[in-house]
Amino acid sequence: MSDSQHPDPQPSTDPDNDTPRRSRWLGVLIVAFALVVGLGMFNIGRLIIRPKPEVTAADRLIEASPQLQKGRDLVTRSSDCMRCHTMELDVVGPGFRNIAKRYAGRDDAVPYLAGKIREGSVGEWGRIVMPRHPQITQEQAELMAGWLMALSPAKTPAASPP
Ligand code: HEC
Repeated sequence: MSDSQHPDPQPSTDPDNDTPRRSRWLGVLIVAFALVVGLGMFNIGRLIIRPKPEVTAADRLIEASPQLQKGRDLVTRSSDCMRCHTMELDVVGPGFRNIAKRYAGRDDAVPYLAGKIREGSVGEWGRIVMPRHPQITQEQAELMAGWLMALSPAKTPAASPP
């Protein structure tokens, strides 16, 4: 005598059974989630690696001119400039690209900035003082300012003086 009214020793093979269907959806969800995360990481990586168009244009200009390279090396290697400045970001002093952008329309930008590099500056960007650089010669300061202004997105090889 058995109490069971419906003995069912066989496991269900019904394809519409709830359990396999739910785990199939879970699998699809996990794959979709992994795809979204993967694509997001790929996109972030691409944004970090991809150079900005103005960078490559300025780089080409600088690569073609030993004078601009000299100016670059004076700023990035031979002096204390990088203690306060970076290329892109305003840190203690304004980013070099931002300086180039700001003075792009000024014909006297190079002599003006060369003067600022030697004499120091305050009040143009904020209240932090940029110290004087009396050890830098006028010629060096102009090379530095020339490189700086070559970073300007408006500059083209045709527009730069020889
Ligand atoms: C102690 C930090 C410091 C150092 C070192 C420094 N700067 Fe600056 N620089 C600043 C600050 C702060 C400003 C913004 C000054 C202002 O608001 O007028 C500035 C501004 C400038 C400007 C823009 C001036 C203007 O009138 O808009 C140029 C160009 C510049 N720096 C170039 C250089 C160069 C080239 C060197 C290296 C020889 C250098 N700086 C070293 C802090 C510094």
